Amino acid sequence: MSERIFIGVAWPYANGPLHLGHVAGAYLPADIFARYHRLKGNEVLMVSGSDQHGAPITIRAEQESTTPQEIVAKYHQQFIECWKKLGISFDLFTTTGTPNHTQVTHDIFLTLLDKGYIYKDKMLQAYCPKCQRFLPDRYVEGTCPYCGFTKARGDECDECGKPLSPVELKELHCHLCSTPPRFESSEHFFLRLSSFQDKLAAWIKEQTHWRRNVLGSTWKFLNEGLRDRAITRDLDWGITVPQSGFECKRIYVWFEAVIGYLSASKEWAKLHGDDTAWQAFWRDGAKSFYFIGKDNIFFHTLIWPAMLMSYGSLNLPYDVPANEFLTIEGRKLSTSRSWAIWLHDYLERYAPDALRYTLAVNMPEAGDSNFSWREFLRRNNNELVATYGNLAHRVLTFAYRNFDGAVPVPGELHERSQSLIHKAEVTLDAADELLYRCEFKGAVKEAMSLAQEANRYLDEQAPWKTIKTERNPDKIETAKSVYTVLSVLAALKTVFHPFLPFSSEKLHSFLGFGGSVKEAGWKVQFLPPGQKLRQPQPLFVKLDEDIVAKESSQLGSLKENQKN
Ligand code: MF3
Ligand code: ZN
Repeated sequence: MSERIFIGVAWPYANGPLHLGHVAGAYLPADIFARYHRLKGNEVLMVSGSDQHGAPITIRAEQESTTPQEIVAKYHQQFIECWKKLGISFDLFTTTGTPNHTQVTHDIFLTLLDKGYIYKDKMLQAYCPKCQRFLPDRYVEGTCPYCGFTKARGDECDECGKPLSPVELKELHCHLCSTPPRFESSEHFFLRLSSFQDKLAAWIKEQTHWRRNVLGSTWKFLNEGLRDRAITRDLDWGITVPQSGFECKRIYVWFEAVIGYLSASKEWAKLHGDDTAWQAFWRDGAKSFYFIGKDNIFFHTLIWPAMLMSYGSLNLPYDVPANEFLTIEGRKLSTSRSWAIWLHDYLERYAPDALRYTLAVNMPEAGDSNFSWREFLRRNNNELVATYGNLAHRVLTFAYRNFDGAVPVPGELHERSQSLIHKAEVTLDAADELLYRCEFKGAVKEAMSLAQEANRYLDEQAPWKTIKTERNPDKIETAKSVYTVLSVLAALKTVFHPFLPFSSEKLHSFLGFGGSVKEAGWKVQFLPPGQKLRQPQPLFVKLDEDIVAKESSQLGSLKENQKN
């Protein structure tokens, strides 16, 4: 029976380019998962969009002496181009700037207010006397009360990861002018998160299938005790508050950004010509998965579920397979120090599948993992080119030349050949189970080990030798081994498809199949003897040693906007 899978992916702030940390953290695993489920014949809705509100956007606009709107427009466009080139197959990638998003946010706000889950109260907010403005949490800097880090921000501590509020910080100063701010009382709305403590704890207890790291940090927050949280701010950039007297205030970015999952689903339904189509992905019979980096866990395993519980009748997350962080050449990624690899920059020079493979095989699933250019070169040259690509190219060109550009007719296969084809079936099953559980690293390794096995088989059978000695005009012995490897390729293009969509489509076509890999579905596709092959081309490009030195030397030097 087919399943319905909702996939929400973290909404990137549209304040700067995407980097490999974003890709490894959320977008690549989400896309692998979406493609896998589509291949399985399941219905998938994968959405996200540009997060266009919040201090990250206004800070950037101030730095570049431009408007938030312009910053957002520029990066939103760039994100969309990157998704296309990298093959991130969103059903919709929208923004939090649409009228639809405002409408859905207002509906949730007013429903929660009506049900008593949101209330009005006074709160102290930092006000900078020099800048003469209220300071967003992120504009307040100071010392973290938990770990002593001196550059903690008013929303969270970058060092220990604790969510904070500005009043908790010590030795406060304004991020813009360094003046110590004063606190002024201002009226705001609050989400009654404290009243969800027990309900959330009971729900989290049931999530035994979640990743250990996700459960661990969720329990840490729960054990510290949940407190009510202000969900409006004194700002002029953001979603309006649908209450009189709040004209000069806006809804807090995190409260509305998570609502994006629902508003994007509704927008997708409208674009689809059926306003109610979103419901199938949000109600009984569907499962929702949220792909995020570990710094977003709190908002997805506690706040968003509490909001959904308050609102009622919509699915809570089924799983939140958050990834840990990606380090670059052994160091913590830092955009301010330009210690990052920008995605648009990568995509100008290298193939999308090479990055998808390198990041998938080394995905930060259970702990942080590292990207290095040397490792990238090795994975590309030794595994994609020498193992998988070479297998495909050797046997495809051989068949194309020696069997009239068609799949050879093999007759009955020997046991050794049958057992390799059986191994292909076993690989598909194993990868299926791993992918279903969001274990991407394990699944891609299964696929590559099948390619290795097929290489060993090919070397052992050596069709280029048997063809010279065969007397039989049908070249039947050679036909058997070539047919066997082509059949394994028909499995590899499927099992690799979630990871390497571009090369899988090519291989599918070289093998002479019509339509797309997705239409063929998740199975070892039977290869009809006699099927016409298409002229093969290499699947991957070998990279030169010297890219390692060249690329590594760029790190930490160029600012991301010098490379746009
Ligand atoms: N914009 C946030 C970030 O980059 C993520 C928002 S995820 C959402 O950290 F679900 F809240 F939208
Ligand atoms: Zn100031």
